[in-house]
Amino acid sequence: MRAPGDKSVSHRSLILGALAEGTTEITGLLEGDDILHTADAVRAFGAKVKRLGDGHWQVTGRGASGWRSPKVPVDFGNAGTGARLVMGAAAAYNIKVSYRGDASLSSRPMGRVLTPLREMGAEFEAKDDQLPLKQIKGGKLKPVSYTPPHASAQVKSAVLLAGLNTEGTTELHELSLTRDHTENMLAAFGVDIVRKTKDRGQIVTINGPARLKATQVKVPGDPSSAAFLIAAGLMVPGSDVVVENVMMNDARSGLFEVLNEMGAYLRADNFRRSGGETIADLHVKHSRLNGINVMPERVPSMVDEYPILAVIAATARGTTVMRGLAELRVKESDRLAGTLKLLTANGVEASIDGDTLSVTGGTITGGAKVKTHHDHRMAMSALILGLASEKPVRVDDVSMIATSFPDFFDLMAEIGANIEVS
Ligand code: S3P
Repeated sequence: MRAPGDKSVSHRSLILGALAEGTTEITGLLEGDDILHTADAVRAFGAKVKRLGDGHWQVTGRGASGWRSPKVPVDFGNAGTGARLVMGAAAAYNIKVSYRGDASLSSRPMGRVLTPLREMGAEFEAKDDQLPLKQIKGGKLKPVSYTPPHASAQVKSAVLLAGLNTEGTTELHELSLTRDHTENMLAAFGVDIVRKTKDRGQIVTINGPARLKATQVKVPGDPSSAAFLIAAGLMVPGSDVVVENVMMNDARSGLFEVLNEMGAYLRADNFRRSGGETIADLHVKHSRLNGINVMPERVPSMVDEYPILAVIAATARGTTVMRGLAELRVKESDRLAGTLKLLTANGVEASIDGDTLSVTGGTITGGAKVKTHHDHRMAMSALILGLASEKPVRVDDVSMIATSFPDFFDLMAEIGANIEVS
């Protein structure tokens, strides 16, 4: 199977393309709902966005003319990455913008990006620092040196994107390295971005104003989506699956390392460079896994993968203890509470202590109907649990799987999963 295009790189290709001078050509774009919202958002700021074929898009950016005020509210749907990155980029322009999102996105914290953007001089009207919200003043920002209190690639990216059109040096101190696609892609768009490693993190510097030049972006396959296919292969006896075209960025591959530590047959072959990233084909076979301790330092490189790791852990021998999971509470849903509920309702021994989740492998009875709270990764995790349970696992909604993995059902059917949608 071929992994679908990476969601993080897809958002960034549209946003950076919309900031750049000239026409950026994108291939392999993930055509999930989250990305389509970002495409509409950058159109609203004046970029020209065209779909030429499957995953093949063109964005003609605003370049030196800058983003203009959208005529209608910009709606991000379910997409936190789209929302936070666009808010950062737009803050550096003297424009007014109204933002909104769906019920899940409107309950997520936006203060984590509004705080540094306000420090830079942008002004927002936002009840409880949540969507819907308005940018009432942007442009002529002051450069800052900012250290996000949480490990967050979205916050890092928002500050760096605001720094592009800001006079002076914007500096971002990261205490733990998070996914670095914004840094890699800004360099590919011709921006002089400087990175210095510091302990487990880095300092990133941009001298503004920085002009972006259009380029070509080949979107690699998404390791976070591949994770579900790999989980199915590991958990179902007799499986032997190859997932091609998976991005192997160190800041994203924590799950694969953890699975190897648990004893998985998971091999990466055929390493190659594509679109500025390393990609590989992952070969997975059904494996007898052992529970392990997953330390908090792992979180930034696999923050989206804990629900599916917890599902995999339900088939392992012994207990898997996953620590440092506080950030899971502010994703598309509270994934810490949701994962616990998903497992215990289906007969798996699991518990939460503070921000630690423990899962003990054993018989998975199944039979429960799981509430997904409009969270794509929770819905896919629940369905994968159903592959290893005695009775079927049901979920209340699957429509939002299309935000990140529109081909999920087709690919699962291809490897023999029996999923009924009624
Ligand atoms: C993302 C960063 C992560 C991740 C999200 C995508 C990105 O969020 O959970 O799915 O593309 O920058 P945080 O920055 O909130 O950790």
